[in-house]
Amino acid sequence: MTATVRFDPAGPLRGDYTPPADKSISHRAALFGAMSDEPLTVDNYLDSEDTISTLNAVRALGAGVEREGGRVLIRGVGLHAPLEATGGLLDVGNAGTLMRLLPGWLAGQPGGVWTLDGDETIRRRPVDRVAEPIRLMGATVDAREGRFPPFTVHGASLTGIDYELPVASAQVKSCVLIAGMMASGSTTVQEGAPSRDHTERLLRRARVPFEQDGLRMTVAQVDELELDPVVVPGDPSSAAFVVAAAILVGGSRVVVKDVGLNWTRTGFLRIAERMGAVIVGDLEEPGTQAAEEPLGELDVASGPLEGTVVEPDEVPLAIDELTLVALLGAHAEGETVVRGAEELRLKESDRIAGVVEGLRGLGADIDATPDGFIVRGGGSPLRGGTIEARGDHRMAMLGAVAGLASTEGVEVVGMDAAGVSYPGFEDDLRALL
Ligand code: S3P
Repeated sequence: MTATVRFDPAGPLRGDYTPPADKSISHRAALFGAMSDEPLTVDNYLDSEDTISTLNAVRALGAGVEREGGRVLIRGVGLHAPLEATGGLLDVGNAGTLMRLLPGWLAGQPGGVWTLDGDETIRRRPVDRVAEPIRLMGATVDAREGRFPPFTVHGASLTGIDYELPVASAQVKSCVLIAGMMASGSTTVQEGAPSRDHTERLLRRARVPFEQDGLRMTVAQVDELELDPVVVPGDPSSAAFVVAAAILVGGSRVVVKDVGLNWTRTGFLRIAERMGAVIVGDLEEPGTQAAEEPLGELDVASGPLEGTVVEPDEVPLAIDELTLVALLGAHAEGETVVRGAEELRLKESDRIAGVVEGLRGLGADIDATPDGFIVRGGGSPLRGGTIEARGDHRMAMLGAVAGLASTEGVEVVGMDAAGVSYPGFEDDLRALL
């Protein structure tokens, strides 16, 4: 099914808005629940295609999953026990986070063998980035062409490693930390720049021996997890699309409720503020190391924008929102540059090519660079036209926001892709008009 939906120029967005539950935290809560011995209650679990793939995967590994509204009860199998479905195929659907985190757990199951596969888009996304560290720890991984799904993980008795991340990726970091809980001795991961830290927060909450010194973190082998119920905050990456619409459509004023304000996820808000957006909220202090996930309210209003430069260190903190930075840049006065974001080429689609071709088709003056893009805005709205979602949820939502802010409207081809993270997006957006 490829739905084409038109988004016409809109009057101001006004009112209260509650974003859907956080996707990254939902995936992790389900996996940590499955790795626990005691049942774990997760409130406000995200109801989307990606996070349902994770519930199906943990079920296939022997965990019990009971859903009632937004509450999910997971009866885990413990860290060392998911041998039930050995030899089986685990379907990750379109979920890159599931595909990169789950191998960390499977790698530590001696005698277990699992093949992971998913949809057409996921088959273009590399897994060598997680295969390398878990091989160093002792597991065997066979991947198509050495780096793509389907791929097979053969579990083993793991040994701790000291690993420097070759890419700025929270998914890879999380995979190594999860494997580290099952590896003899201790496992250290070193990041080049901070990335989302939800796995670290869950390790602290689960009372796992875990230490962090700046960008270096160490986890020691552990027998079991002890987790209190998890409440998933609203997703700042999903909210960012509504926030961007409120920033771009003149006269808007939106209050975002119950949104996650973890500092490793609020890079986009800081960039948007720098460009001139008016955002009032209790953002977490950068550098905070905590166990809990902070949540709160944001009061967002439109304002005249000017260009900015996003440097590589800031990229992981806004990785899923950088296409929105391009859209803001197209409406801003002056030049907006994003550097050090080559990872965008490996997301659900090549988001550098997608945003450059997509926004150019709507009238933007934008060029791709090998590691990002340069947009030159004249301080006036985009014309509009047609944009292809390319099977990518965040490209679909970008097109919708571009339409509301344009002078002639935008047709989004493949709007249904939004269901991967945000099935109710269109309704939520229109409810504010
Ligand atoms: C995610 C990490 C990011 C992000 C993805 C979710 C996570 O990917 O783009 O949407 O939950 O860890 P990388 O870690 O590969 O950059």
